[in-house]
Amino acid sequence: MKTARTVATNPRLTSLEASFFTTRARRTQRSDANGDVRTRQEPNLSSFRSGSVCSVVSVVKNMRKTAISDALFARAQNLFPGGVNSPVRAFKAVGGTPVFLTRGQGARVWDADGNSYLDFLGSWGPLILGHADPDVVAAIEAAAGKGTSFGASTEREVLLGEAIRAAVPSMERMRFVSSGTEATMSALRVARGYTGRHRFIKVEGGYHGHADTLLAAAGSGVATLGMPSCAGVTPGAAADTIIVPFNDEAAMQAAFEASQIAAVIIEPIPGNMGLVPPRPGYLPALRQMCDAYDALLIFDEVISGFRVGRGGAQALFGVRPDLTCLGKVVGGGLPLGVFGGKAEFMSAVAPEGPVYQAGTLSGNPLAMAAGLAVLRKLDQAAYRRLDALGQRLETGIKNALAASGVAAQLHRVGSAFTLFFCAEPVTDFVSAKRADTERFARFFHEMLDRGIYLPPAQLETGFISLAHTEEDIDTFVASSREALATIG
Ligand SMILES: Cc1ncc(COP(=O)(O)O)c(C=O)c1O
Repeated sequence: MKTARTVATNPRLTSLEASFFTTRARRTQRSDANGDVRTRQEPNLSSFRSGSVCSVVSVVKNMRKTAISDALFARAQNLFPGGVNSPVRAFKAVGGTPVFLTRGQGARVWDADGNSYLDFLGSWGPLILGHADPDVVAAIEAAAGKGTSFGASTEREVLLGEAIRAAVPSMERMRFVSSGTEATMSALRVARGYTGRHRFIKVEGGYHGHADTLLAAAGSGVATLGMPSCAGVTPGAAADTIIVPFNDEAAMQAAFEASQIAAVIIEPIPGNMGLVPPRPGYLPALRQMCDAYDALLIFDEVISGFRVGRGGAQALFGVRPDLTCLGKVVGGGLPLGVFGGKAEFMSAVAPEGPVYQAGTLSGNPLAMAAGLAVLRKLDQAAYRRLDALGQRLETGIKNALAASGVAAQLHRVGSAFTLFFCAEPVTDFVSAKRADTERFARFFHEMLDRGIYLPPAQLETGFISLAHTEEDIDTFVASSREALATIG
């Protein structure tokens, strides 16, 4: 039985732009009336393979313009650690200069150099409707015109809370915060406060934001940067964090037997070691163990909530957690997190109970308006469409992999996916880390040059939005086919 273990420059952009555009007007890309570079989508029989669900789409490998992004990155590095305001944005895992985006519309984003990309990052998950959805924009504008923050209660909070509870009934009561990190940190505090226990279990490669106690053996940027631990987290803060492998019931059982556990916090469908679905029976087993040991089961559905279905992963797998954390989709692209669950546990939160939690901007009117606008559009038909697009991508990529001979695993749940560059199945963090990150980096750049924007790290999840069309998916697949052939 496994045991638990514990360049600074000052670019003159105008002249730079001018010289850039005159000296490098040699592109093979077409530009639209706004000068936006587009991927060409014209019939090209050489890219057609029988048996594929994809329509005939060809892609053009662009010589991407990067001068302006390069110059901005140089300035940004002088200001921000790594030139960024969140580590994975720095392209450390794939090399090259991060794109500086200026605009997003629907499924497409544009960078400062005028390159355009089909976006499969979706701001790391929130943008399930795509960029600048007209209803979301209108809702935000209407709200902003009446005041951007009150620090007081509003009707919209009640409306969004009721909408969330209707979709995720286990969230009998909840509280709004401003990020996923706040949601998980607060949920854990509730579990500890309620049970009076300190220790909790998280899985290796699970990422729950950057609160001190939750950074141990974390996925996402922590894993991408290969950081075994995080400086600045005191031994005391990490001492009560018990790490077990994902998908391993025996290790979880051993951890429960070894100490008094306040809670298990887990992404029910981890998306921060790449996308790794749970084995059948794994989540129900966690539910049983938590019940047997009087511990709380916290589902971190910051990615999966409103992404894999209206009821999140808990509805998909039929497992009711004690507490749930939401973020990303529910905020419609604005800063919003939510934690909530059984009324009995949430009553421990101040001012009703002894667990303090607060926020100046919590329940922010713009975030409430955006969330409501998004949730209104996420009906069953929306999820059916997302799944159909996901299925089209999956079939296309699997065909492309078979044709290329490249050993890789495509994981998909609905509109979320990861392509792992490894021959063996991926079931946990250890197997995910066997993926060939160097090969992924080459694939990433081949895709970027073809106008496809993916998460810039192997151990992350890509997202399809309702703004993507079948043709966009086919362009993704055709681009992948070429990229796979190139990286070999
Ligand atoms: C599963 C999960 N939980 C929590 C977080 C933290 O959310 P935020 O970045 O909004 O603080 C993330 C962020 O990616 C996440 O993926």
